[in-house]
Amino acid sequence: MTRYYFAPMEGITQYPLRNIHNEMFGSTIAKYYTPFITATHNFHFKKREKRDALFENSPSFAEQKERVVAQIMAGRADTFLWAKDEMKKLGYKEVNLNLGCPAPTVVNRHKGAGLLLDTEYLDGMLSEIFEKTKEAEDDIDISLKCRLGFYDEEEAIDLMKIFAKLPLSELVIHARVREDYYRGEPRIDAFKNAVRIYRESGGTAPICYNGNIFSKDDLGFIEELKEYADSFMLGRGIIENPALSRELSGGQELTNAELKEYLKRLYFAYSDFIPEDRNLIFKMLEHWAFLTKRFENNEKELKAIRKSRSEGEYFAAVNSLFSADGRP
Ligand SMILES: Cc1cc2nc3c(=O)[nH]c(=O)nc-3n(C[C@H](O)[C@H](O)[C@H](O)COP(=O)(O)O)c2cc1C
Repeated sequence: MTRYYFAPMEGITQYPLRNIHNEMFGSTIAKYYTPFITATHNFHFKKREKRDALFENSPSFAEQKERVVAQIMAGRADTFLWAKDEMKKLGYKEVNLNLGCPAPTVVNRHKGAGLLLDTEYLDGMLSEIFEKTKEAEDDIDISLKCRLGFYDEEEAIDLMKIFAKLPLSELVIHARVREDYYRGEPRIDAFKNAVRIYRESGGTAPICYNGNIFSKDDLGFIEELKEYADSFMLGRGIIENPALSRELSGGQELTNAELKEYLKRLYFAYSDFIPEDRNLIFKMLEHWAFLTKRFENNEKELKAIRKSRSEGEYFAAVNSLFSADGRP
């Protein structure tokens, strides 16, 4: 069976979503990634990010901690190693270094995709991370999530040679460069080429492909990539359609009843840490922004959801959208 992963998405794939998604659709997801948790220069986590990483908030994973990967944003080996140890104490079996975030505030601090710019520094940082982890006899898995480069896909050649030297547990490649942000078609040929170079350079870690998997129409392209990739990471596509991995695995299509239930449970799970209706609705609107395609004939009802300011207004608007759409 094809292995699908749930991508990390800051502000979206926090513990309420991971937990509820796992309970409703988790049987076709091999791993969930937390959004990045920042390892600050003074060895500190933001309270909100730490809360997200705690397994006590994700009871559906209590017996399956290996299915959640803690993603770390760090620009130095020492802060990464500290964060890795903290995540290990919380019960994580795998941590993942973010080498892909394109946001200027991140890149300017030489983190995320910013690390792809200076390959000499990155090489040194990664070598230190793996050497120290080995010295400490720490068996935690360390994986990377990268892009093909910062400006140009040709940068992948040097990057893959660096990654091939390391005992990575997995290499996730988002088939874009930083300058693409999330736009346009993924660079499939450059992805294949990068994997070829990684293998020719002696890299043995499983490869995960990431980029623009949205529906069953992409199954042909997934098949084609299986020669290169061992697993497939779903990002925006699985926010648009929480049953995407089930559909890709040959299962039933998402029903409106399921989607309605999923969104309702998310709403009440967010109320754990967002007490005010208004702010909670803003949070839900981040999800609704991904759902407009499914409801493209219901602009009036979507607008009412966007304009709602209280729990009552919100649920009345959601109910009228599902009634107007009419699908079961
Ligand atoms: C709103 C948003 C937040 C994201 N946050 C993260 C993150 O915290 N860590 C990360 O590695 N990637 C992050 N990503 C990138 C996704 O994990 C993924 O690589 C990207 O969306 C491409 O996959 P897709 O085409 O399936 O969406 C984010 C993407 C979006 C749109």
